[in-house]
Order: sequence, then structure tokens, then C-alpha cells
Amino acid sequence: MTISHRCALRGPLLTFKGDPFTMGDEACVFINDALVVINDGHFEQVGDAQTLLSSLSDDVPLIEYSDQHVMMAGFVDCHVHYPQTQIIGAFGEQLLDWLNQYTFIAEQQFADKSHADRVAGVFLDECLRAGTTTAAVYCTVHPQSVDAFFEAASLRNMRMIAGKVLMDRHAPEALLDTAIRGYDESKTLINKWHGHGRNLYAITPRFAPTSTAEQLEMAGALWQEYPSCYIQSHVSENKEEVSWAGSLFPQCHGYLDIYDHFGLIGQRAVYGHGIWLTESELQRCHESGTAIAHCPTSNGFLGSGLFDIFNTIKRERPVAVGLATDLGAGTSFSMLQTLNEAYKVSQLNGHSLSAMQAFYLATLGGASALDLDSQIGSVEVGKEADLVVLDLCSTEAINFRMQYVKDITEALFVQMIMGDDRAVAATYVAGKLQYQRSVNN
Ligand code: GUN
Ligand code: ZN
Repeated sequence: MTISHRCALRGPLLTFKGDPFTMGDEACVFINDALVVINDGHFEQVGDAQTLLSSLSDDVPLIEYSDQHVMMAGFVDCHVHYPQTQIIGAFGEQLLDWLNQYTFIAEQQFADKSHADRVAGVFLDECLRAGTTTAAVYCTVHPQSVDAFFEAASLRNMRMIAGKVLMDRHAPEALLDTAIRGYDESKTLINKWHGHGRNLYAITPRFAPTSTAEQLEMAGALWQEYPSCYIQSHVSENKEEVSWAGSLFPQCHGYLDIYDHFGLIGQRAVYGHGIWLTESELQRCHESGTAIAHCPTSNGFLGSGLFDIFNTIKRERPVAVGLATDLGAGTSFSMLQTLNEAYKVSQLNGHSLSAMQAFYLATLGGASALDLDSQIGSVEVGKEADLVVLDLCSTEAINFRMQYVKDITEALFVQMIMGDDRAVAATYVAGKLQYQRSVNN
């Protein structure tokens, strides 16, 4: 006898079959009363409940969500630092001082595997509470911080990208590796984790100022050996940082060119921030397939600047952009709160980010920026069954506001402006319920 791993979810569903920035509403699929059948961790059937229910066998468990809910693909956070969970909301500094005063102190604690285990668990549980099922994650320089993270991600069966930070200068001694040690340790971690279960490895030079040319060169060589891995780093976040990077690599033509020079840009290279990228640098991102992670809560918190998403993705030379929390400079695990800030930053740049554009960025857009759009990011037959269920009336104020919305677009816009983790009723990972909000919450 074969045991069936099927289950089915019924309720309103929002998903995307394309990019609403280019296709408009054609890209969005909203089904008022949908049925989603999941088998062995993948979506097996997706469609109208009235049509599909008749063929659903009685022994398949069916969970029903009322029309006060919306199901959608799990959220994708394209850039985040799990070791910084303990320093969210650290007062008063901008990027370079914040790194020295808070970040580099906290990260030293991750030499202790048991500390890393504990924080990785807290971090991933908070992701699930926020509806985030995939993230591109920085660990610390310590290989054991990567083991801790992937062990915790494997326990929850989440599709995660992560890597050991490479730093061989301009940080405290206890956080430095060397070019060769960084290479060797990363290689060992790739062989141990990349493609094991749902884990994927990112070669992670922190940013150009904390790596020597030798280290960046070895990172590029490692990527050539393992091209299915990712590259993740930071670029053009803060004006002082941009000029410091330029002064450290005077032979290069600007910040992005440093990474370009060492073979660190291209498809599956994901750079945080990119606020101050010039037109020619954006052109180079476009040509090479390099993605930018937009981190609005972080950029506001550190006073870094206003990332212009509409310029970055413009039709003439679109650059892939995903959305990111960038904790602990970012201030919330919630992708809804991240969208709230993204909306405000866009407004300050003269564009209004629509609800559909925003939820696309939080799901399929992020998956696409991470080159994972054939596996995750939409609720589509054959894809991995990562899904979040939003409660559209999660607080008294939202509940009241919802009495005055005229359609689903407006309802979703209210969620991204007023909602937070309380709006997440349930999170499914590879078809399994991994988080359910308690009734009092
Ligand atoms: N640039 C280099 N490291 C970091 C970091 O940890 N956070 C942010 N926001 N920017 C960085
Ligand atoms: Zn970052």
C-alpha cells in the first residue's frame, strides 16, 4: 500500500504568471474560491474549487480558509543577516560606524556553535511567523555559523541560500580569515551543503572594503568551480562606503567594477542595496544578469538613501530586483512592513508602487532575482509548495479599514501598509504546515 502525502487548501488565492511591472494586471491571477492540492511537497493541482473539488478524493485532508484570507506563495527575502537578529534597532549610527560598533561585536559570538544554533532557530522561526519561506542569508566568518544555519533550515525543510562571510581585512582580528582559508572553508561548506535537501550555497565576500584583491580573486575562482552556487555581497549602500571602496581599488572604474574585475557579477549574483549605482553600472547589471536586493527598512534606518526601484527596472535595461529585510540594519522580519517602506521610498522618488507590483516583488519577483522562479515564487502546478495564508482582518484597525475597501487590490494594499506578522495566519513549507498563528495573537 502506498501512503498518500496529499492535502488540499481551499480559499482565496493570489498568484502571478508574469511580471506586473511589464504586463500589468495580465500578470496577476486572483481566484476567489481556489483549491490548491499538494502532493509530496509540490503543488499538484491549482484552480477553481468548484471545478476541482468533485475530483478530490474524500480521504485527502482539506483545510478551508474563509474569504477573510488570501493564500499566496511564501515570501522571499533576498538579503538578510541571521547573526544580526540580536542587534536589530541599534541606535544612532550610519553604515560604517554601525558595523564597527554593533555588528562586528555581535558576530564574534558566532564562534560558539551553540550560540549560532540558538540564533539560527530564533531567526528561522521568526521568518516563518512573517510568512517568509526562502531567504538569501549571510552567516558569519565562522564555518560553524553556516552549519548551524543549514542544520536549522533543514529541520524546517526551508529552501534557503546561505554562506560563510569572507573578510580578510578592516574588521576585528577575531572575524578575519585569509584568502586561502576563506576559499578552503567555503569549498568544504559547498560540498557539505549546496544542493543537499533544499539548501543552496552563496559565496559571500561581505563587501569589497573587507576583502583584499587576493580574497576577491579566490572568491571568483571558487564561483567558476561551482557555477551553480550564488555570489552575495553589498554594493553602493552608503556614500562614504562608495568612496572608501573606490579608494581601496583605484585601478577599478567604480564600485561595481571591483566585483566585475574579479568575476563576481552575473546570473545568481545578488548585491544588497545598490542605491548609488550609476547609469553605466546599472547597464552592466542588466547585461550580466546581476540582481539587486532592495532593502528599504535598512536604508531608512541607517540613513543610507532612497533606492529608485522604478529607475532600476526600467524597460530599456531592466535590472532584476528582489525585496529584502537586511536585518539587523533592517528593522522588521515582516515582508509586509518591508513593502510598506518600499512604497514610501517609491513615493519619495515620484512613483507609486501598486499592491500587485509589491506582492509580485515579495514572491515571484524575489524568486526570479534569486534564479529560483522555476521552483518557487508562485502557486503553480509542479512548483514547491511554499505558501503563506494572510488574514485580511488581523488587527482591530485593519478589520475596521477593511469594511471600506472596494476590491482585492485595495484590500492587499491595506495589508502591505498596515499589516505585519499578525497578518500571517499560517505558513506552509514544502506542503507542510510549519507555522500557525495562535488564536489570541
Ligand atoms: N555592508 C557590509 N556589511 C554590511 C552589513 O552587515 N549590513 C549592511 N546593511 N551593510 C553592510
Ligand atoms: Zn546586508
